[in-house]
Amino acid sequence: MCGIVGYSGHRPAVALVVEALHRLEYRGYDSAGVACVQQGSLCVSKAQGKLTQLEQLLSQEAPSTATTAMGHTRWATHGAPAVRNAHPHLSNDKSLALVHNGIIENYLEIKNELLAKGYSFYSDTDTEVLVNLIQECHKQEPDIEKAFAMALNKAHGAYAVCLMDKDQPDVFYAARMSAPLILGVGTGENFVASDIPAFLPYTRKVVFLEDGEMVRATSSSYEVRKIADLSHVDVSVQTIEWDVQAAQKSGYRHFMLKEIFEQPKVIQDAMSGRISASKDEILLPELDALPVPGRLTIVACGTSSHAGLWGRHLLESVAGIGVQVEIASEYRYKETLIFQPGEMVLVISQSGETADTLAALRRARECGATVLGLCNVVGSSIAREAHSVLYTQAGPEISVASTKAMCSQMLLLTLMALYWGQRKGILSSEKCAEYVQSLLSLPEILENSLHDMHDTAKRLARKYAQAKNFFYLGRGHCFSLALEGALKLKELSYIHAEGYASGEMKHGPIALIDSSFPTFAICLNDALLPKVKSNVVEVQARQGHVIALTNKGVDLAVDDAWIIPEVPGVLAAYVVLPALQLFSYEVADYLGKDVDQPRNLAKSVTVE
Ligand code: F6R
Repeated sequence: MCGIVGYSGHRPAVALVVEALHRLEYRGYDSAGVACVQQGSLCVSKAQGKLTQLEQLLSQEAPSTATTAMGHTRWATHGAPAVRNAHPHLSNDKSLALVHNGIIENYLEIKNELLAKGYSFYSDTDTEVLVNLIQECHKQEPDIEKAFAMALNKAHGAYAVCLMDKDQPDVFYAARMSAPLILGVGTGENFVASDIPAFLPYTRKVVFLEDGEMVRATSSSYEVRKIADLSHVDVSVQTIEWDVQAAQKSGYRHFMLKEIFEQPKVIQDAMSGRISASKDEILLPELDALPVPGRLTIVACGTSSHAGLWGRHLLESVAGIGVQVEIASEYRYKETLIFQPGEMVLVISQSGETADTLAALRRARECGATVLGLCNVVGSSIAREAHSVLYTQAGPEISVASTKAMCSQMLLLTLMALYWGQRKGILSSEKCAEYVQSLLSLPEILENSLHDMHDTAKRLARKYAQAKNFFYLGRGHCFSLALEGALKLKELSYIHAEGYASGEMKHGPIALIDSSFPTFAICLNDALLPKVKSNVVEVQARQGHVIALTNKGVDLAVDDAWIIPEVPGVLAAYVVLPALQLFSYEVADYLGKDVDQPRNLAKSVTVE
């Protein structure tokens, strides 16, 4: 969702900002723009569509010599995707330019006050309202930093913003409130961005700005203050461990494909340091100080909620912990949250910035619950606001569709189940060692099978890509995978797909089946196989075509039996997941869709 970049240094700033915006493209956007000060005036260039449109526009203009600039990729919220709504927005007197990610909730009220004072508006955005509010505050407060803070204190909602003033060509200001914004500290140059990859080629030193903080930065200095009273904040500079390589395609056609193929390493990294030398004990020191939950409510959105649904099986069967899984956008607005003694809340989020999940976390905390976070992005809002956080260590996930992050979330959920099972004394060291052995064997199983899976996915994608609808069926732990398979297919290829618990089909959905409505059934060689087989036969009796994801030796008469390596028990999910991901990837690529940035989607959903 919207990408922000601010830069002050010694390099050609406009080119650098556009290049940095490219590294935020994964967030999803529909227009882009940049601003800098040239000969005492703010110069703004904006274009609808991809950054190449903006680059084309800039190539027709005189090259900018500015060494301070800011830029933005916009994901439309207030107003259609159009040049007039693209950022940066100028104040009426053209002295200030602003880029913004988030929503100013009271913008209509402020707009009406400004209209009454004679201001004009040329866009449909709340951002233009905010920049004019800063102009209005500047009339009373000659120091622009104070005027900026005054305006922000009047605005309610979630935002990350970057501001430039025509009278200070070498300065940018930025502020955050419930939307990501990170300061990059370089040598003779400073950056601000919505995510670290934007400035990673230039510096690994970062300051994670907190909600309610603002910064004034030049090429040689930065100072962080509280928006509320402009008091100075002592910040700590942290060093990012991963490098630019991790945020590049490394020869893969798409980030998504690269991230699917990274899963063997993701599994290894997620286990790293979390298994005892004797390989029969799970080490999760982040949880040592907390009691074992009596019950667990898992709250998440999208793919992360599917990981939660999957994890429920192990948490219940291995750790004996009752689990309910809630969608964050529903949970946050529930009239009553009922917590039983010993109940804990676990919020799962790759980005750690999803607005609904963050709001659910805050609500649960307000109601007195202990909240655990399971996040990928270090220092993200959810990671910071949870009582304790477990990091999935999956590295940057750039493709909008989540793949390796889900794998890493499942791994951490597995470890949590084993850890709590041991702490409760219901999982013996021997049994734990068996699980650990299975987990340790997964990277090699995947390494040896991903290329074959990719070939099968390619072949099946060509056969089924013309379908208009798809069912995904699974039972037990595979039901959550069926939901995930369907989500991946619809978000990437725009083919309508629904995930169902296999046994639920006969209660209505089966009415849709005919020869043009294929089904993707997960039919693993486990205790539920006879039941799933019956459901497949029911589909076939209605002339439905079936792809069955299954194991060697399973006797199934279907159109396409896709054999994957057999892994006992619920850990089989680690092999099912990449097959589902690869099938959706190949269908979307075959249909010519924008795999890494599907239409209408954003990587980090910072609006509700
Ligand atoms: C689907 C997808 C989304 C995210 C969801 C939650 O491929 O990526 O459904 O899983 O927006 O995002 P996080 O995990 O960042 O909270």
